[in-house]
Amino acid sequence: MRVEQLTCCIGAEISGVNLGDAARDADLFAEIKALLLKHRVLFLRDQDITRAEHVAFARRFGELEDHPVAGSDPDHPGLVQIYRNDKRENYENNYHTDGMWRLTPTMGCVLRCIECPPVGGDTIWVNMVEAYKNLPEDVKKRIDGLRAKSSIEHGFGAVMPEEKRLALGRENPMVEHPVVRTHPETGEKALYVCSFTTHFANYHTPENVRFGLDKTPGASQLLNYLLSQASIPEYQVRFRWKPNSVAIWDNRSTQHYAVMDYWPAPRKMERAAIIGDKPY
Ligand code: SIN
Repeated sequence: MRVEQLTCCIGAEISGVNLGDAARDADLFAEIKALLLKHRVLFLRDQDITRAEHVAFARRFGELEDHPVAGSDPDHPGLVQIYRNDKRENYENNYHTDGMWRLTPTMGCVLRCIECPPVGGDTIWVNMVEAYKNLPEDVKKRIDGLRAKSSIEHGFGAVMPEEKRLALGRENPMVEHPVVRTHPETGEKALYVCSFTTHFANYHTPENVRFGLDKTPGASQLLNYLLSQASIPEYQVRFRWKPNSVAIWDNRSTQHYAVMDYWPAPRKMERAAIIGDKPY
């Protein structure tokens, strides 16, 4: 297996490996998992694997989850179809970590490209451990112990007709997570707010709010500042897809953004998402 680091901060391309083989070989899988914890997102080209192999490889990390909005392959539960055709849909071009709106958000994903535009449709990943590490000390103090609410209704629901949006919210009630989470395997701290985050749950204290007027700008300015960290290029890697390219990412320490510049060309991706732990 060859490993080429792609930026100073995040991402490596690995070659000389087939994920179908890794699904059947515990040692090979362990090597890939160690690389994932180190580089946070791994890229592989020419993975002409079956859907069953795709699912089997992802299952080595843990159980898979389906998605309440994007459908799954009927013959391969857990293999979510992210198919964009000639309709203009815009709920992906946001920095996000998958499933933050769940009580136990996604641990990681294995995403394979089935069809992509000749140019465009890249995906960007961001190292949120680095984003946390580089925050000014006074900001780190302000967000220590802070918690935030996340909602799928706020993200995917926004483009739905009202009834459908409200039903999505009822079926997936808002959840609360720490603003700084600890990676359960490496112990690293990562900044943990994204486009699913609606507001802080415990900002309104006498230290932060002298009068009611302090609350709204204070909380939203801080949240916007934290959200903006994901767009800093020094924390990012950008990947250009080809059919049979695969990205494997650790969703606990990264965010990603699917660039939506290719319309009306179609783009078809299949994603196996692994169930994660409750953030702490
Ligand atoms: C995702 O947001 O999980 C999919 C990213 C992509 O389609 O590039």
